Amino acid sequence: MADIPIPKNRLNLPETIWWDEGELFLLDQTQLPLAVVGERQDTIEQVSDSIKALKVRGAPAIGVAGAYGLLVGIKNDRQLPVGDFMARVESQAAWLGEARPTAVNLKWGLKRMVEFAKAQTAASSRELYDLLVEEAIRIHDEDRELCRMVGVHGAELIKPGNGVLTHCNAGSLATSEFGTATSPMYVAHQNKVPFKVYADETRPLLQGARLTSWELQQAGIDVTLITDNMAAHLMSQGLIDIVITGTDRTAANGDVANKIGTMGVAILAKHFGIPFYVALPYSTIDFDMPDGKGIPIEERDPEEVTHFGMRRTAPENIQVLSPAFDVTPNELVAGLITERGIIRPPFKENLLREYATKGA
Ligand code: MRU
Repeated sequence: MADIPIPKNRLNLPETIWWDEGELFLLDQTQLPLAVVGERQDTIEQVSDSIKALKVRGAPAIGVAGAYGLLVGIKNDRQLPVGDFMARVESQAAWLGEARPTAVNLKWGLKRMVEFAKAQTAASSRELYDLLVEEAIRIHDEDRELCRMVGVHGAELIKPGNGVLTHCNAGSLATSEFGTATSPMYVAHQNKVPFKVYADETRPLLQGARLTSWELQQAGIDVTLITDNMAAHLMSQGLIDIVITGTDRTAANGDVANKIGTMGVAILAKHFGIPFYVALPYSTIDFDMPDGKGIPIEERDPEEVTHFGMRRTAPENIQVLSPAFDVTPNELVAGLITERGIIRPPFKENLLREYATKGA
């Protein structure tokens, strides 16, 4: 098959997800940084597998991929009567929503599509499908703008000469454009503020090494890759002034689930008196989750721990745990950088005041 041309976003980075003439394309992030390869998604099963395999990953990105993925799952049902089509919309959305459990954005994007469909009075399934395409594009465009605004508000936290530590990839690749944790970095860079980023490599799947260091380097940001166990040392040397990470789900009290290892970084930051910030759009807040204890933590294939790349690095039959996320308690969080501004403790009250009372 001919190479798929990959569009670039406003940061001149490859698009993570694109919808072109009725078809869904994803950047295959498992191949980065060695190859920049796009993949067309022909079935909803393929979309689900791509989400599970982390071809598309990061909370906002899987929200957008879910919305478009639903379209892939219902495109062949457009000849059905509207009632039957609507039943397919709901069942396909429920099925795709199970692909990964921790990031709330996947179910959020799908729920938004289903609720939008229910609110329409379309004369035919074809018309309803076309309206759903418009809604998925709106979700995508909105994510671009939300993440850019996270950066507009968060950039003030990065002072000239700062060292910024981040974990995993909450970057352009994890969203539609500016990223969440990286958005203040991109905006500060555009504002010509000099600073350094230290990217944790993020075992076991190396999102920091493969993705964050790659995209920041492409964008001309001063980035240094470290292994996860170097963070405390760098902090003790005074190299880190601020930590910014993303989140897969923020509970109503400000507890934040993010990539495994994030809580350890937050605990270290507290020890060294370094502020730990979490960046997110509203689509990552789960007001139905009172605190972090109920957030489902994805358990991944043990081979991701027993192997480094394709090579086995642990004995056969070893017992393995492979939780993909952990939950950082809100008392370790200095602030939540959102599209509306920086939300400070007490998070429960301030999140409610910012969102629940004014609406999203
Ligand atoms: O398993 P991944 O790569 O999907 O994990 C992603 C993260 O943990 C990100 O930090 C999080 O989704 C925030 S993305 C803006």
